[in-house]
Amino acid sequence: MTIRRPDDWHLHLREGAMLKAVLPYTAAQFGRAIIMPNLKPPVTTVEQAKRYAAAIRDALPEGSTFQPLMTCYLTDGADADEIARGHEEGVFTAVKLYPAHATTNSAHGVTDLGNVAGVLERMERIGMPLLIHGEVTDPEVDIFDREAVFIERVLSPLLARHPGLKVVFEHITTEEAADFVAADTSGRLGATITAHHLVINRSHIFAGGIRPHLYCLPIAKRERHRLALRRAAISGTGPFFLGTDSAPHAVTAKESACGCAGVFTAPTAMEVYAQVFAEDGALDQFEAFASLNGPRFYGLAPNEGTITLERAPVTVPEIVLAEDGEAVLPFQSGETLNWRLKTS
Ligand code: DOR
Ligand code: ZN
Repeated sequence: MTIRRPDDWHLHLREGAMLKAVLPYTAAQFGRAIIMPNLKPPVTTVEQAKRYAAAIRDALPEGSTFQPLMTCYLTDGADADEIARGHEEGVFTAVKLYPAHATTNSAHGVTDLGNVAGVLERMERIGMPLLIHGEVTDPEVDIFDREAVFIERVLSPLLARHPGLKVVFEHITTEEAADFVAADTSGRLGATITAHHLVINRSHIFAGGIRPHLYCLPIAKRERHRLALRRAAISGTGPFFLGTDSAPHAVTAKESACGCAGVFTAPTAMEVYAQVFAEDGALDQFEAFASLNGPRFYGLAPNEGTITLERAPVTVPEIVLAEDGEAVLPFQSGETLNWRLKTS
């Protein structure tokens, strides 16, 4: 199966040795990726984004044409002029909204959307997309309900207040989110779907014991939600596109009394997605989901090149080692998949 080279519309690359260890996997598959800004400290200025983009380019394998698309981490004190300037200069592709304390490195996130109303108005005017981690942070709300409650309490009112704002509902995990996005007819609402949320449901996290490498945020939900996500992805329809949310953490940080959230899918992301589409008899929709819908939403041209996947066994790497001695465990570590990315 040969398709236009895909893009990853949601990716965590980290910095330093980890960046160097994980980036080649993404660069081998994808033409571009939206790079999440939740570093310590977060990427909030044009200068920081330029420096981070340069570090990513430096870490690329020789000859790679992979393009990082940078994002700005939205804070309560965000400066609309700085964000608009970054967009105009082609440094910032989008802005990422983390509700404060929703997930990994989100302590600087937004505490009240009222604090950033001016920034959002400006983004609406200049056509700059807002990428949303869609979970409420109210500890009273059950962790499995936080995404569905977010739609009612935050997302719907936000879309009504800013009728021209382009929004990506990131890494959706529920039937409610899939239905909400599918019901929008304006074309200004999109959603990314990860590979792992198409494969696991919440029971997998506890299969035979607690499996910290399957813990991520938003957490995987019941089977009915996984099936709804699969229907949305294989529909091939406009608002749904590929975003891995590959989020590497050192094994020591995952296998801990308070393990970090994040599933590291980068090594075999395209193989996992291909297997899902093949299982559901929807390979004819794969290119739309992986390579066409995302660029269309962002107003970019699809990549010129192609990639080829063949129906052949491939083993997921057991472990990925960084130069500083840290190790990361890939999703489905050591397992065999039945689609293989051909390296040209
Ligand atoms: O599981 C997650 N990991 N969810 C996020 O929102 C952040 C990410 C990370 O940066 O590790
Ligand atoms: Zn993420």
